[in-house]
Amino acid sequence: MPNATGTRKRLADLGAVASGLAHEIRNPLNSLYINSQLLAEMIQSLPDSLGERREEMLSLARTDMKVTQRLNDLLTEFLRFARPAAKELVVADLNRIVADTLRFLEVDFGRRGVVFSVRLHPGPLQVFADDKQLKQALMNVLLNAEEASDKHPPRIAVETGIRRGRPWVRVSDNGRGIPAADRRQIFKLFFTTRRSGSGLGLPIVRQIVRDHGGRITVRSREGAGTALTFSLPSEETFKTATSHAAGKTLLPERVK
Ligand SMILES: Nc1ncnc2c1ncn2[C@@H]1O[C@H](COP(=O)(O)OP(=O)(O)O)[C@@H](O)[C@H]1O
Ligand SMILES: [Mg+2]
Repeated sequence: MPNATGTRKRLADLGAVASGLAHEIRNPLNSLYINSQLLAEMIQSLPDSLGERREEMLSLARTDMKVTQRLNDLLTEFLRFARPAAKELVVADLNRIVADTLRFLEVDFGRRGVVFSVRLHPGPLQVFADDKQLKQALMNVLLNAEEASDKHPPRIAVETGIRRGRPWVRVSDNGRGIPAADRRQIFKLFFTTRRSGSGLGLPIVRQIVRDHGGRITVRSREGAGTALTFSLPSEETFKTATSHAAGKTLLPERVK
């Protein structure tokens, strides 16, 4: 059986190959996008006498634009997963991270009629974290909550708190819930039940949260809704743990 280091190495190699491939696909995809855009413009300037025929051609060219755009988004998301940016750890306030992320999504969600309720812990919740990555994780969770909505109005509740010194954030929705059979799959790479899903959202969330020494719990009832919580180590614990880990890597390899 391969040891953990061997497996990790192989996964890292695989990640490198996959992201190399993703980069290779990106350039031709870009030219496809530009070409379909040009094509759409050219078709648009054809004489009106072509009537319906012109509209058909235009619609095909526009579909190509949309499809290539979607593939490009998928690649971007995948690359973020395969080659996560180096963490930039700062002392941050989890409440602030939550508020910033909500502000970013507010308009879009508001347009879709989402009713938010936000209950933030009264004091600041200090964490030692890469705030950009945490915002990304939170955003993925919030998007899932919105996409799961099947009630009127869709409701999303966001709460933060602290338990045993560990700051946490929870996103609950009143959406369709996760069927028991899917529950073990949702963190798997490419697992999706949505037509235009990528199955990358939750694996990214897990990667980020784990990377921060955090934990995720999911509670869901089919037809009633889902709550996803992640907790992080306190600023103190995180600093001690990471300095400990950094020290470890400096130790010489064990030789038998
Ligand atoms: N809040 C939620 N409510 C219901 N199902 C969810 C929720 N969050 C995640 N899921 C399920 O987990 C799957 C994987 O989510 P994710 O990794 O973000 O990929 P994607 O959103 O692209 O499908 C979703 O397709 C969905 O089936
Ligand atoms: Mg998602």
